[in-house]
Amino acid sequence: MLEVVDVSKTYKKPLVKALSGVSFTISRGETVGLVGPNGAGKTTLIKIILALLIPSGGTIEIGGLNVQKHRYEVLRRVGATLEGARNLYWRLSLRDNLLYFGQIKGVPSSVIDQRAPDVLEALHLNGLERRLVGTLSSGQKQRAALAVALIHSPDILLLDEPTSGLDVPSIDALVSVLTGLKRDHDLTVLISSHNLGFVQSIVGRVLFIDKGHLVGDMPIAELERKNAEDSYLFTLQAREGLRSMVTALFPEAQLWEKGEDLDMVMAIPSGETLSSFLIKLEEKGITVLSAERLNKDLLTVYHEMLEEGKTTHDE
Ligand SMILES: Nc1ncnc2c1ncn2[C@@H]1O[C@H](COP(=O)(O)OP(=O)(O)OP(=O)(O)O)[C@@H](O)[C@H]1O
Ligand SMILES: [Mg+2]
Repeated sequence: MLEVVDVSKTYKKPLVKALSGVSFTISRGETVGLVGPNGAGKTTLIKIILALLIPSGGTIEIGGLNVQKHRYEVLRRVGATLEGARNLYWRLSLRDNLLYFGQIKGVPSSVIDQRAPDVLEALHLNGLERRLVGTLSSGQKQRAALAVALIHSPDILLLDEPTSGLDVPSIDALVSVLTGLKRDHDLTVLISSHNLGFVQSIVGRVLFIDKGHLVGDMPIAELERKNAEDSYLFTLQAREGLRSMVTALFPEAQLWEKGEDLDMVMAIPSGETLSSFLIKLEEKGITVLSAERLNKDLLTVYHEMLEEGKTTHDE
């Protein structure tokens, strides 16, 4: 559905290399998160996909069409919100924004009038259609931007920081709107966000971007699988020959000195429970001072990815 091949972008004034050789594909119906620190290149990438910026190198295809060459056809199939609801005309009413942008994308005004109530209802915007967008609160603007992005029933949705400025009920509304669209329309979605809880709740896969490089591409299922492995952090009491003993028993364990003691991270061996494993260690003469379940969330993985990216890209 979306194919990004070796995309790079260097801004000229000032000279900034914002993206370097970014490649990935997103299949129809997938929802993918784009996460990375400020300045990583997320907005630049989304603008390039939308053909709002010309890449310095590489190509983008949506549904098999090059976005630069077939801009108009491609954009009819795409809905997008940009940072700070910048895809709206603030001096027009919400209704006029829906009409204007819907018509640009080839939807007749009668169809827009038919669809608008459902879209506004889903995004909790009823009663605000006559308001000038500039007079809406920032969360209302954000939801209005999403309404405009959805009015022409796109196949693919690109959302740059859609949760910024949203309160908890609005984030919940966004999650349920997106979930419904994915279910009913097989919508393909790419979302950049700093809200990792939101990302984890809605996407099937996460792309990690740092300093213009794609540093990771991970299905959420893998995160869940890692968590299902029952990893624990054990602190083992110091004793003569502890490290070599542990290494011999559990070659897969990761070990760190903790003062005199030893920290060990490993999954409970299959067939064992935490308590049977602790008893086994005790029988071998290994005293466990503490055991802490490691539940990796997206934030932990994010930190790991950034650390890895640092060693690879900071030369
Ligand atoms: N018009 C521009 N001219 C020059 N440099 C730019 C321009 N726009 C962005 N940059 C730079 O390109 C890099 C990537 O910026 P971008 O806005 O894509 O990051 P981002 O991942 O969206 O960050 P954030 O999380 O803060 O929104 C940054 O170093 C930024 O300063
Ligand atoms: Mg950005």
